Amino acid sequence: MCGIIGYTGSENVKEVLLDALELLEYRGYDSAGIAVMEENEIQVYKRAGRVKDLREKCAGKAENSVCGIGHTRWATHGGVNDTNAHPHQVGRVTLVHNGIIENYRELIADYDLKEKLQSETDSEVVAALLDRFYEGNPEETIKKTVSKLKGTFALVIMFADHAGVIYSTRNVSPIVATLCKEGAMLASDLTALCRFTNNYFVVPEYHILEMKEDSIKLTDFDGNEKEPEYLTADWELNSAGKNGYPFYMEKEIMEQPDAIERTIANRIVSGMPDFTAEGVPDSLFTECDRINIIACGTAMHAGLVAQALVKSILHMHIDVDMASEFMYSDPVIDEKTLVIAVSQSGETIDTLEAVKYARRRGAKCLSIINVKGSSIARESDYVLYTNAGPEIAVASTKAYTTQLSIFYLIVAKMAQLRGVYDTEQTQSFIRELQRTPEVMKKVLEKRRDIHVLANKVLSAKDLFMIGRGLDHSILLEGSLKLKEVSYIHSEAYASGELKHGPIALITQDTPVVASVTQEKLMSKELSNIKEVRSRGADIVLFIKESLAEDIDSQYQTFLLPDMRDEFMVMPASVALQLLAYYVSSDKGFDVDKPRNLAKVVTVE
Ligand code: F6R
Repeated sequence: MCGIIGYTGSENVKEVLLDALELLEYRGYDSAGIAVMEENEIQVYKRAGRVKDLREKCAGKAENSVCGIGHTRWATHGGVNDTNAHPHQVGRVTLVHNGIIENYRELIADYDLKEKLQSETDSEVVAALLDRFYEGNPEETIKKTVSKLKGTFALVIMFADHAGVIYSTRNVSPIVATLCKEGAMLASDLTALCRFTNNYFVVPEYHILEMKEDSIKLTDFDGNEKEPEYLTADWELNSAGKNGYPFYMEKEIMEQPDAIERTIANRIVSGMPDFTAEGVPDSLFTECDRINIIACGTAMHAGLVAQALVKSILHMHIDVDMASEFMYSDPVIDEKTLVIAVSQSGETIDTLEAVKYARRRGAKCLSIINVKGSSIARESDYVLYTNAGPEIAVASTKAYTTQLSIFYLIVAKMAQLRGVYDTEQTQSFIRELQRTPEVMKKVLEKRRDIHVLANKVLSAKDLFMIGRGLDHSILLEGSLKLKEVSYIHSEAYASGELKHGPIALITQDTPVVASVTQEKLMSKELSNIKEVRSRGADIVLFIKESLAEDIDSQYQTFLLPDMRDEFMVMPASVALQLLAYYVSSDKGFDVDKPRNLAKVVTVE
C-alpha cells in the first residue's frame, strides 16, 4: 500500500514525480504529496485527495528542482487530511514511508519527539527520529534510526544539506530502483519506472541506497558496497497506459485473450505442459501428498477453482487458505506438502508471511506471480510468472484468469505425472486450454449484451449470486468483483445452501445472478433458480450455450460459448467481470479506484 517515488536527474523533477504518482495511485489514493529540492531548500506540496488535485496545487511552482520524492497514501495511522499526507518534514529531514512502524508510540516517548510532530502518523515519527540523530552523516543516521524501528518500512529520505541526493532503505515493504539515461529513480513498484526503462533492481532489505543524478550506490549495513542485481521487465514500455479505454479495468478485461496466450504459449511443448524453462522439477508434483494454496481475495478465488479441479481430476487432498488466517490456523504442513502461493503483486504481506511460515515448516513453495522479482517470488522455491503485464485497475481481472490458466497447466502436469491422464488425455486437456483465448474473445464481442444485463441490477441494494460446484467458485469471484467496484452488497452462495437460511432475504428487490455451466449439476441448479424466482427475484442467468434449452423466458439470459465443463470458468469469469464493470461505470463511479481500497496490500 502507498505509492512511493524518488527521482534525481535531467528531466523536470516535478513532472516526473507527478506522472509517476498517477501511475502509482492504485496503491492508495487518500492523499498525495511531493517534496522537491531546489539548491538547499526543500519544498513540500501535499494534500488530501487525488494526484490531479496535487497537480493543481503545484501548478507554476517548483520548476527548477534537482531532485524530489513523492507519495500516494492509503491511510493507516491517522485520518485522511492534508497534515497526515506525506512527505513529512522534520528539521533537516524530509521523507516518505510505506509500511507500519509498530513501536512509534514508544519512540515518541523514549526520544521525547512529541513537540516535533504535527501529524497523527507513524511515519512522521521516523522523520523526527532521523532528525534527532542527524549529525551530518546520512548513512550513519539511517542505520541508527532503523535499529530502533519495529515493523515494516520502505523509507525514501532527503537531507536538506545534501542537495541532489536521495537515500532509501527498507524492511519487507518493496522498493525497486534504476539508473538510466534520464537519471536515477526508485519506486514502490515497477509501473512507475517502465516509462523510462525496463531494467531495474530490487533494493535488498536492510541496505542503504544512495541516488545521485548520474550514480547509484548500494551498501549493506556493515558498509560493504554491493552491486545491484539488475532484472529486465518484459512489460512493454507503454503497456501501463489506457490505450483509449475510459478505464484500466475495461482495457485489462479486453486484454485477457492475449494475456492467456502469453502465459501458456511457452509452457506447452509438443502439446504437453512443460515447466522445464522455469526449472520446476517433476518431483515437486510427484513427491507431495497434499497441496495447500495460500492467497488473498481474487487470487484465493483462483485457488478455489484449482481446488475443485484437483479434487475431481487428481483426487488429492487440497486445502485453500486465506493467507491472513493461514499461520493462525495450525495448518497441517510438512515436507510432503506442496504450497502454492498465488499473488498478482507478489507483495501481499499476508501471503508473503504465510510462504515464509510454510517453508519454515519444511514445505516446498511454488508461487504464481505477476510481478517479476517481487517479494513472494523471491521467498519461494519456484515461480511461475503469469505474464499478464501490468495490472493497474484495483479490481483484478487479467491476473485472475492468467492465474487460472497456470493452474490448468499444473493440473494437467500432475495428472500426467501421477498417471491419472495418459498422453492423449493430457494433450486433449491442453488443447482445450489453448482454445480459451478464442472462446473469451466471443464473450468480449458480445459485451453489449452484458451491458444490457448490467442495467437490470443497477439499482439493486442487495444481490445474490448462486451456483453449485465450479459455478459457485466462479461466482465467489464474480460477487467480489461486483461489490468492490459497484458498492452493491452481493453474496455468492452455493445454491443448495440457500434454503438453509439466506433465502429469507430474497424479495422482488433482490436480483439473483446465476451461473449454470456444469452439465452434471444443471438440473439441480435450475431448480434452485426456480425457487428464488417464485419468491419474486429477477434472474440474470449465465448459462453454457449447449445447456440452454427450455430456459424460462422471464430470465435475463446470456449464453456462454461452449467449452469442456472444467474450462467454463474462463468464459464465465469474463462475463461476470464485464457485468461488474458496466454496473460501476454506468453508476458513474471511478471504476479503477474503488473507495477504501488499494491495489497492493502490504499491511497485515
Ligand atoms: C480484488 C483484488 C484483491 C486481490 C488481493 C490479493 O479485485 O484485486 O482481492 O486479489 O488483494 O492481491 P495479490 O494478488 O496482489 O496478492
